[in-house]
Amino acid sequence: MNVQKLLSSLGPCCAVIGAQWGDEGKGKVIDLLAEHFDVIARACGGANAGHTIVVNGKKYVFHLLPSGALHPGKTVVLGAGMVIHLPTLLEEIHTLEENGIEVVSRLRISPAAHILFEFHKDIDTALEERRAKVKGKGIGTTRRGIGPAYMDKAARAGIRMERLGTDLRKELEERAKDLLAMYGITVQIESELQHLEDARKILNGCVTDTIALLRRSKSILIEGAQATLLDLDHGTYPYVTSSNTTVMGALQGLGLPPSALTSCIGVAKAYCTRVGEGDFLTEVEGETGERLRKRGGEYGSTTGRPRRCGWLNIADLNRGALINGFTHWNITKLDVLDEEPEVPVALGADADGKVAYQTLPGWKTSTVGVTDFRKLPDAAQRFLRFIEEQTHVPTSLIGTGPGREQMIIS
Ligand code: GDP
Ligand code: IMO
Ligand code: MG
Repeated sequence: MNVQKLLSSLGPCCAVIGAQWGDEGKGKVIDLLAEHFDVIARACGGANAGHTIVVNGKKYVFHLLPSGALHPGKTVVLGAGMVIHLPTLLEEIHTLEENGIEVVSRLRISPAAHILFEFHKDIDTALEERRAKVKGKGIGTTRRGIGPAYMDKAARAGIRMERLGTDLRKELEERAKDLLAMYGITVQIESELQHLEDARKILNGCVTDTIALLRRSKSILIEGAQATLLDLDHGTYPYVTSSNTTVMGALQGLGLPPSALTSCIGVAKAYCTRVGEGDFLTEVEGETGERLRKRGGEYGSTTGRPRRCGWLNIADLNRGALINGFTHWNITKLDVLDEEPEVPVALGADADGKVAYQTLPGWKTSTVGVTDFRKLPDAAQRFLRFIEEQTHVPTSLIGTGPGREQMIIS
């Protein structure tokens, strides 16, 4: 592992951004790099994210806290672009503390981040059911209330973290009347207030000017959530999330100027998955799709839904590289392709959606846990070189298993 060489090429402010439809393995690379950065920051989204990390065989799933929280002593930031479900955050803090990892003293939350209430989840479900009725299908959201929380933010009706500890009863009562009339939703005011009170007790000291903190920090690792194809502006609208998931969204969500950024790692699986509805040109169903799902453990970390599986699409990677300015690839889950006799890679599609594939030979050899590029089978090396040639971005990190150590750094 040539970590030092990689770190010097990343510089002091690195963003990690998903290039597909999420679940590429962002959490794992964040966890791997976190020890080398002072601050690890989430910028956007909420508990729709599920970032899984495996350390010494133990699995942790993060929805709101940055995955870097596993490293004691690192400052972790939740930025202004986030929508925060407080009970989920408290639960995550509690789980880490049960495992001997203290978080509260090093957690900093932007006062401008929005609070996501239980009723946002109820609205999410009501809207999904309405879409299913009217259009025959919903978006396939995680039902974590993300869309409705951002609707409130855009309507300038949201409640932000700066108001934690103030009396919000009147506002919630007003809101309850509206939601009952609009959606037939009953807001559980007492329980919402209790959640706020529970959070105030633990988090009050954490809400602080994160922009000033980031400005003072020597090095920052930005943990993207969701991914480029789920971006509200640049993704596969309307089957997207409600935040800006690109590197620009991350900078905006943290209040960092573009000039601060020194590198941007694009994370892409060696194949592709999607949860939820929407076009997926390279999707493969049947036996092959099932094989990828099984080998890749492709079930959602947040909802447990089976992920749709398919082949890598180079056109998507190129678009992601154009939008985000990727400086490095982390190609993840190479090992999942170990048993494939051949590996089709999509180069793009014509106007009718007909996909052109280049089929590369498979390697039929285990790559699990390989940490040296030269020890990969020739066909696997060729596959990775092909991605580099097609995208003009170096494949600097290659995932060969879920564990922290199962990564090639070249
Ligand atoms: P994220 O949302 O981008 O952080 O990704 P998820 O955690 O939702 O999904 C990625 C899944 O793949 C997790 O279960 C990881 O433990 C696992 N994973 C990550 N990298 C690798 C890899 O290189 N090989 C294998 N087999 N699994 C991996
Ligand atoms: P991470 O950070 C995969 C998808 C949902 C749905 C669409 C809208 O783990 O990669 P939302 O609940 O955001 O309104 O759902 O976006 N989605 C994700 N898919 N990984 C994620 O996050 C996702 N976050 C949202 O499945 O299709
Ligand atoms: Mg995930």
